[in-house]
Amino acid sequence: MRLAIIGAGSMAGEHAKHFGRLPGVEVVAVCDMDGDRAHAFAERHGIPEAYADLGAMLARDDIQAVSNATPDGVHKATSLAAIAAGKHILCEKPLATNEADAREMAVAAQQAGVINMINLSYRDAPAIQHARELVASGALGRVMHVDASYRQSWLVSHAWGRWDQDSQWLWRLSEGHGSKGVLGDVGVHILDFASFPVGDITKVNCRLKCFDKAPGNRIDDYVLDANDSALMQVEFAGGALGTVQATRWATGHHNALTLSVHGDQGALRVDLDAARDKLQVCLGEDVHPARWTTLEAPATPSIYQRFVDSIASGHNDQPDFARGAALQKVLDACFLSHAEDRSQALAGGEVAEPVTA
Ligand SMILES: NC(=O)c1ccc[n+]([C@@H]2O[C@H](COP(=O)([O-])OP(=O)(O)OC[C@H]3O[C@@H](n4cnc5c(N)ncnc54)[C@H](O)[C@@H]3O)[C@@H](O)[C@H]2O)c1
Repeated sequence: MRLAIIGAGSMAGEHAKHFGRLPGVEVVAVCDMDGDRAHAFAERHGIPEAYADLGAMLARDDIQAVSNATPDGVHKATSLAAIAAGKHILCEKPLATNEADAREMAVAAQQAGVINMINLSYRDAPAIQHARELVASGALGRVMHVDASYRQSWLVSHAWGRWDQDSQWLWRLSEGHGSKGVLGDVGVHILDFASFPVGDITKVNCRLKCFDKAPGNRIDDYVLDANDSALMQVEFAGGALGTVQATRWATGHHNALTLSVHGDQGALRVDLDAARDKLQVCLGEDVHPARWTTLEAPATPSIYQRFVDSIASGHNDQPDFARGAALQKVLDACFLSHAEDRSQALAGGEVAEPVTA
């Protein structure tokens, strides 16, 4: 199978590395609107052809599939072009920047009969796959309460580079550059992480915050107006309540996803920082003493492998574009809920004094 990559940035490097390792897959081309970047990327990853013109790359009949690693606001136009050219497509998350666009992409892919998947990469963690199986088996009983967090700290830590200098981080902070903030960027991951095992989210109440970060909240032509922190209260189709949060201000964590699911007969906890292939459970006789044990989860094929397998078999594996659009519906509801803010401000005298040294 011959595959091309759209976008030659940071995540595209992961695509090149993973697809390059799969037997039977050849990464034959890369396209970036920045031609120099495309050429440097091709050289770095041993890819024969580099393009600055997407149309020229997509016109090649020998390319069957593309992976799209452009910024969020560019996914729709580039994916629709690839679908129109009849290419199978793996697109980065979030699928688009609103539900209507995401639905349009899902419908276009379905009508064109191409395999379509969205890179909700944390589904590759064996622990989350096993968590889904446990919930589905009824081992936890009726799920009552859920708690999911995605903690990043790149607005504090320099471990991944400088947010105030690198375009890779600056576009994520700016709505004008197509970003929906932390909610669109990794909120989509944690909403999937919670609802993949527990079930669809049917109600949401959301609070977003964009903190002041630079003079005038602007750096060059990046207006820093996208949300940095998101708090969600959700209800699931099965009736459980949950809290879901995502932030770039979680000092002390680079990229930490956690999930707790509490049922009336048992509970589970996933902490990907601690282990991607282990989860903790409290079941059966352990419920009364609240004793937890660790379970090993069987290995899970990567999304790159599942995309390639889907093309070979003709059976579109999950998560597909329709799933991406369903998540986008939750994101849209979050923005609406935030805009209609029903939080109650407390009068000054009723608030406790801040703690000082
Ligand atoms: N699944 C995951 O876990 C995960 C992790 C990181 C990033 N991502 C996603 O990957 C995508 C890319 O993120 P990144 O950090 O690599 O960004 P990046 O800024 O490093 O790279 C994006 C690249 O796309 C190029 N580009 C922009 N518009 C283009 C166009 N019209 N045609 C061709 N190329 C174009 C840019 O020049 C840049 O080189 C985002 O959607 C992001 O949300 C997903």
